[in-house]
Amino acid sequence: MSDPLRLGIAGLGTVGAGVVKIVRQKAALLEARTGRGIAISAVSARNRDKDRGVPLGAYAWEDDPVVLAARDDVDVFVELVGGSDGPAKAAVEAALKAGKDVVTANKALLAHHGQALAELAEANGCVLRFEAAVAGGIPVIKALTEGLAANEITRVMGVMNGTCNYILTRMESGGLTYDEAFAEADGLGYLEADPELDVGGIDAGHKLSLLAAIAYGTQVAFDAVELEGIGRVSIEDIRQASDMGYKIKLLGVSRMTGRGLEQSMSPCLVPATSPLGQLDGGTNMVVIEGDQVGQIVLRGAGAGEGPTASAVMGDVMDIARGTRVTTFGAPASALVPATPAQATTPAPYYLRMALADKPGALAKVASALGEAGVSIHRMRQYEHVSDAAPVLIVTHKTTRAALDAALAAMPATGVVRGDPVALRIEQV
Ligand code: HSE
Repeated sequence: MSDPLRLGIAGLGTVGAGVVKIVRQKAALLEARTGRGIAISAVSARNRDKDRGVPLGAYAWEDDPVVLAARDDVDVFVELVGGSDGPAKAAVEAALKAGKDVVTANKALLAHHGQALAELAEANGCVLRFEAAVAGGIPVIKALTEGLAANEITRVMGVMNGTCNYILTRMESGGLTYDEAFAEADGLGYLEADPELDVGGIDAGHKLSLLAAIAYGTQVAFDAVELEGIGRVSIEDIRQASDMGYKIKLLGVSRMTGRGLEQSMSPCLVPATSPLGQLDGGTNMVVIEGDQVGQIVLRGAGAGEGPTASAVMGDVMDIARGTRVTTFGAPASALVPATPAQATTPAPYYLRMALADKPGALAKVASALGEAGVSIHRMRQYEHVSDAAPVLIVTHKTTRAALDAALAAMPATGVVRGDPVALRIEQV
């Protein structure tokens, strides 16, 4: 029988406590499945005295995660501190330099420093795994890196922030304004300490950039993700989109095109009957399309103690079994810098605008769209209470550049009141 695999766990929040519970409560199952015991040598967190609902007395305590990371009795450093820099980065670097394998749930760290850390891991003969960083309990990193490794990946899409999906779902189901739904999510403890990470699309953008690196063999390019949060999504648009057979989701889309890598995380319309359209509440979904496999849909809990600890332990158990996979599914030296392409793939768009209700107004808007090369597919004008008529337009496929040219021409028509809303419709 091999010696036990010894963990050093830094960060004892919800996920850290969940990992400790699994190691303690499921020791026999972990050993039966890996052929090796899994033990905890030492732990570290900011506050030693806090009750985390799990006994910690049997483990050595380190105040400094960097010291923990390099301890002689640690084989695998489990980083659950969070943050793109600071102690998390210092400790992961220290662990890799000391020859320790690393398992992390830290999407921000990898989105900003993934390439350098992957190179450091390989230079030191270590593995750096991060299943828990993307979509919580859904084993999407393993699916992309291993199960789908023989595919050319053509598109990766997903709803990867449960908090945003909860807010958008409650706006629709409860008729809540954005502010009311945000307050409800806050009351339930769903929001990150910095809520902008959730509602600004940053957290989901981090995750998308990590999936794109694996899918397309590129270096992580988070800075090239076109980001737009959900703060400007109105209940009016949710209702009108629904009326036209769509749902609004904070949707991540990445695809490799002849012009480069497209990555966007933004509010989009998807067909209400599609799997993404039917995804309600705080759940996550990742859709992967490969040339051999076709479309794969993965759905599950994107956050929370059990699901995220499950993902951490999946990585730990791989290491216990001796499974050693490169960080992004290819040697770090083989990952090429991504050439960013700004949403150049044509798509249909949803437009909502208020028009002066007078003869010829609609013709002027149609003309501005036509002159920019944007063709109208469907259109509706609704009853109005003020002197402005609400008009909805679904375009045929067009480029964002052509649409922006049409939108820029709208003020000169003299009939468009306020700023039109424009949202991409993703065909899924
Ligand atoms: N705040 C994230 C979410 C979970 O709401 O999905 C951690 O990434």
